[in-house]
Amino acid sequence: MIETLRQTAVEAKARLAEVEDLDELAELDVEFLGKKSAVTLAKRQLGSLDPDERRTAGREVNEIRAEIETAVESARERLAQAARVLRIEAERLDLTEFRGKARRGSLHLVTQSRDRLEDVFVGMGFTVAEGPEVESAWYNFEALNIPEWHPARGSFDTIFVDLGEPEEVMLRSHTSPVQIRTMENQKPPIYIVAPGRTFRTDTADATHLPAFNQIEGLVVDRGITMGDLAGTIDEFVHTFFGGDVKSRLRPSYFPFTEPSAEFDISRADGTWLELGGCGMVHPNVLRNCGIDPDEWQGFAFGFGIDRLAVMRHELDDIRELVNNDVRFLRQF
Ligand code: DAH
Repeated sequence: MIETLRQTAVEAKARLAEVEDLDELAELDVEFLGKKSAVTLAKRQLGSLDPDERRTAGREVNEIRAEIETAVESARERLAQAARVLRIEAERLDLTEFRGKARRGSLHLVTQSRDRLEDVFVGMGFTVAEGPEVESAWYNFEALNIPEWHPARGSFDTIFVDLGEPEEVMLRSHTSPVQIRTMENQKPPIYIVAPGRTFRTDTADATHLPAFNQIEGLVVDRGITMGDLAGTIDEFVHTFFGGDVKSRLRPSYFPFTEPSAEFDISRADGTWLELGGCGMVHPNVLRNCGIDPDEWQGFAFGFGIDRLAVMRHELDDIRELVNNDVRFLRQF
């Protein structure tokens, strides 16, 4: 009897060593240790033996039962361990997968330019202001001294929004409306720059985008002169482009400034490159915002951020900035 039991134990251990899931383990547990198992039956038969034999046989049966129990326990432990490994594997986030292949992303060239412009002007004591991209005729034109009949309205190639009266709501065609919003909400002295998106009906070509970015500057304080404007532009140009680059003002015309100028920067070959417009804030504009032009004077300037990026990096085509070709973008 004991001999058969030993063989059963060997078989049990062999099968338990191979068991692959908990259901199978439960079946083996019943088969080898349950009520109808060989060990249980053997234990029951012990009663028919005489006392001496019963003692030795009983010890052996108990040992064999203990062996099988240990085998069941270690199979259970092995399965639990395997389940843990599987779970950890399933939950694993492999952050090393792209090592060597992964590129770190970077800010878009225009965003970088905008951030740098803000840094330079903040360094000169300006704060950053913002305004909405959808504007009314009052902010985009009227308050800026461009009445309805003014020919300058046509030159802005405005994209109108079909809302309210005809030509009443529009995508702002420049950042200058932020001048008005700032002066309406803030008492002088005012020293702000306002970067942001602007829109015109232009067809995209090598030098134009229908959606582009400008930065506006506005200073309103006592005793401000054209000299302050020229000095501010010069300081900005030195800081942004480097010490060798010079700036100059050329007489021009804008309805919202008087006098008005365009400002250029010098190039290495001695020629000049136009950057933007500027001038002394027109008294009508100050009045439109409830500011007394006899007490306060101001200057303003505005230029394209995308154009600036094109110049600084000598790009052939401004459309590169919006084509979203990573081979281009990742160079910056
Ligand atoms: N708003 C003008 C434009 O988009 C640029 C400009 C010119 C802004 C002169 C100014 C300024 O603030 O003083 O063409």
